[in-house]
Amino acid sequence: MRGKVVALNLLALLVAPAQAQTLDYGYFKAQVEPIFLQKRAGHARCYVCHAERSNNAFRLETLAPGASSWTEEQSRKNFAVVSRLVAPGKPEQSLLLLHPLAPEAGGSAYHSGGRQFESRDDAAWKILARWVRGG
Ligand code: HEC
Repeated sequence: MRGKVVALNLLALLVAPAQAQTLDYGYFKAQVEPIFLQKRAGHARCYVCHAERSNNAFRLETLAPGASSWTEEQSRKNFAVVSRLVAPGKPEQSLLLLHPLAPEAGGSAYHSGGRQFESRDDAAWKILARWVRGG
């Protein structure tokens, strides 16, 4: 019993700093958003399924015709939406990182958009993780 209380206190200590983490908008706009537009070999771009067509919580703003990136206002909205799909400080508990990750690498069993990331060593996956970890 006593050991359990100690363990819980330790857990609280571990969790507390993570909750204080905040997500960096500048890093999101410069590094994370481009990943959603990037073509990955053998896969459709995140944007293809996760903009107008999206019927789930990951829904990006629609690019203006001919535009290759979002306006400032749109990026702010994307930031708000995508922030809800992550646990700040904890990439390993963030839906954004787990859902498109191969199950062998600890990802979700199924994602309609496929295993976009075969492993946690994927360069784009690392950028997402870095954003969530806060640097
Ligand atoms: C071919 C279409 C397609 C592509 C490409 C795609 N997805 Fe998805 N994704 C879906 C669909 C459909 C769902 C909802 C059903 C499901 O969970 O599979 C989904 C669900 C998700 C969810 C969970 C949202 C929720 O509400 O639970 C996340 C996070 C996600 N995708 C991330 C990504 C990322 C990141 C990329 C690009 C690296 C990507 N997806 C590419 C189709 C796609």
